Amino acid sequence: MITPKLLVAGELNVDLILNKIQAFPQVGKELLAEEMDLCLGSSSAIMAANSAAMGVDTTFCGVVGDDYFGDFILNELEKKSVSRRHVTRVAGQKTGCTLVMNYAQDRANITYQGAMNTLTINHIPFETPSDYQHLHISSLFLQKGLLKDIEQILKNARAAGMTTSLDLQWDPTEQWAFDYARCLPYVDVFMPNEAELLALTRTDSIGHGIEKLRPYMNTLALKMGRKGSLGICGDEEVSVPAFEVPHFVDAIGAGDSFNAGFIQKYMSGAPLEDCLREGNLMGALNTTAAGGTGAFCDFNTISEKIKDFWGIELCLS
Ligand SMILES: Nc1ncnc2c1ncn2[C@@H]1O[C@H](COP(=O)(O)OP(=O)(O)OP(=O)(O)O)[C@@H](O)[C@H]1O
Ligand SMILES: [Mg+2]
Repeated sequence: MITPKLLVAGELNVDLILNKIQAFPQVGKELLAEEMDLCLGSSSAIMAANSAAMGVDTTFCGVVGDDYFGDFILNELEKKSVSRRHVTRVAGQKTGCTLVMNYAQDRANITYQGAMNTLTINHIPFETPSDYQHLHISSLFLQKGLLKDIEQILKNARAAGMTTSLDLQWDPTEQWAFDYARCLPYVDVFMPNEAELLALTRTDSIGHGIEKLRPYMNTLALKMGRKGSLGICGDEEVSVPAFEVPHFVDAIGAGDSFNAGFIQKYMSGAPLEDCLREGNLMGALNTTAAGGTGAFCDFNTISEKIKDFWGIELCLS
């Protein structure tokens, strides 16, 4: 069997995570957090790292600055077995950083974008035939350099023979300047959560939001937190409940781990329901350890945990 090859193009930043915070911050006051962690952040990097941990041959395309956080990220990618051959270091730029204030099920994030803004279409390898089977893009609104050319990027990926997936994530400007009618036809799997679907389509119900996307989308994988996920592809509509989590720690990166699980199955040609179930499984596993990658050491530990928590035997295809 040929190992499926995944290319993830996107933002790179560190996460400085504050846990067990007394209350919500207020200007002019100071609060204490009982725990702190510095780890590989960014939706795209978490998705890439967890895909690699699951055994998928994964390459990252992104930009870091020439600084301490840049070194840290490159080391972390190496430790996670993600190829860095398309990661560029830009002199004079600072590497991105997200301050995560974590409150049980949800969190408040503040991101300094830094070097991630300089990633453009020109950094992405689109040679034909492609070295990669699939291109995943996340956090589009955090990456001005990709956002302006997203339609062309998706077309180039398709022309190079890759399938594509896109997780927009939240738009901090709340302008939602993503032309879904033009772009979604080139997205094989569109992966929003419920709030993002509503905001993008400017509707107040999931049903109406889906109807707006339907004429343009291929497969929709809608993430619904503790309710699980919903998949739609043509006339097929499948809902898969979430897994019960034995020891919930935090939900940081659950959506990215869902993406890793879903795309791993998708790349192996599995049916939609199996892709959703694997996504839910990895999303649930993600919540059993701190941060986005804490539960994803390597294939053996992932398999052991999944067997232990849910009695499921993990297989690669
Ligand atoms: N508390 C939970 N218990 C069980 N499964 C969960 C839980 N939270 C998330 N999941 C699983 O992970 C998937 C993705 O999580 P979620 O819906 O929170 O994505 P998201 O909002 O995109 O997250 P992110 O903030 O990481 O981008 C869910 O569809 C679900 O299957
Ligand atoms: Mg998300």
